[in-house]
Amino acid sequence: MFVASPYAKKEIFSEVDPDLAIFNANELITMNTRYGAPRIGDNMSELAIINYGALAVKADRIIFIGTTEELMSEYEFEKIPTKVDATNKLVTPGFIDPHTHIIFDGTRENELSMKLKGMTYLEILKAGGGILKTVRETRNAPLEKLVKNGKKILDRMMSYGTTTVEVKTGYGLTTQSEIKQLKAIQILNEDHPLDLIPTFLGAHAVPSEYKNKPDKYVDLIISEMIPKIAEEGLAEFCDVFCEKGIFSIEQSRKILSVAKKFGLKPQIHIDEIVDTNGALLASEIQAFQAGHLLKSNDEGLKSMAKEGVIATLLPGTPFCLMLDEYAPARKIIEYGVPIALATDLNPNCWTESMQMIITLACYHMKLSPAEALTAATINGACAIQKQDDIGSLEIGKKADLIVFDVLNHNFLPYHFGVNLVSKVIKNGKIIVDNDL
Ligand code: NIG
Ligand code: FE
Repeated sequence: MFVASPYAKKEIFSEVDPDLAIFNANELITMNTRYGAPRIGDNMSELAIINYGALAVKADRIIFIGTTEELMSEYEFEKIPTKVDATNKLVTPGFIDPHTHIIFDGTRENELSMKLKGMTYLEILKAGGGILKTVRETRNAPLEKLVKNGKKILDRMMSYGTTTVEVKTGYGLTTQSEIKQLKAIQILNEDHPLDLIPTFLGAHAVPSEYKNKPDKYVDLIISEMIPKIAEEGLAEFCDVFCEKGIFSIEQSRKILSVAKKFGLKPQIHIDEIVDTNGALLASEIQAFQAGHLLKSNDEGLKSMAKEGVIATLLPGTPFCLMLDEYAPARKIIEYGVPIALATDLNPNCWTESMQMIITLACYHMKLSPAEALTAATINGACAIQKQDDIGSLEIGKKADLIVFDVLNHNFLPYHFGVNLVSKVIKNGKIIVDNDL
């Protein structure tokens, strides 16, 4: 019997011949935006699944989505040049990783033994390690080295299913070396198949030369760095590491207010180690996303729900810091705050795998597999304001998607620590093929 899928919208592109089609997907997760973008509360579990799903692509766009039966009746199947058989497989939108720090030089594997001895993140930073160690090495690295390092990370991200990445600066902390990081992001965005969204994070730490005069460094950020970076169009977002001992609420407010005036969209790291009322500031400043939130208070979380600030949860970080505490995801969902997930990839927390993050989100923050997948796709797209183009599989949107060698979405957190990707399609082209 022919059953029209409720998610098919064939009218727009029905005359166009597809370049590529996927058929017979056991589960095709559309993440149709009829359930909201971002998805909130119970709608985080609404994946809009098509069984025996099919999808057709022309150039970089999705032109058809429905059942395999519908695909066969719509097009001359034999004539489609590239066909992907997804029998017994899962198809999802490409992962969006909306919070990363991938442009750096040097590594910090030595800090693992410090952490094992019980040293905290801020103690390691105070001892000249942590962010400041990476700053020293990144300042000394030529642009080409940063590009080379970044490419290696992006290649791995892509092989694990990520198709769009937000990338922050923050290991330069001088005007020149922050711009060097932004240039590396720009080059990688042009040369690499993945899409990169550049964020200026000059307020990542107070550099050692400003140790005793942090407000002078804030002045440098607002009077020199932001105007220059905005003028050269090098960043889309501006972020601040708002935390006790790093940048205060007042300093963060000042930086993000100036950034907004210069057309940079605000986002912020908040309440990771101490509750400084960061969630309230994120709402006041109307940040598009706020990251970490382990210690955020109820009032702040409720204000985020009211302002629609996305909570980008980063379970890789407490995992790497060996903490028992993770962000209170169930409460955050209950309050109506939309959740996104990200790797937070940085030299302290180094994973390219959003599959790993989904596993941590389910096992440590008690997200369901469906909620975690929503957070890793459509809600991630909203966190970087790209929900009209990516994050769900719908007609007219970019053909960015993953074929997984598993039967259904519950396997993503369940079968962990290995790469479940069969194929990755980006802009309508197969960029990863593990089935060869
Ligand atoms: O989001 N918290 C601040 N920044 C990063 C860590 C950067 C680093 O340790 O190098 C984060 O976790
Ligand atoms: Fe971060």
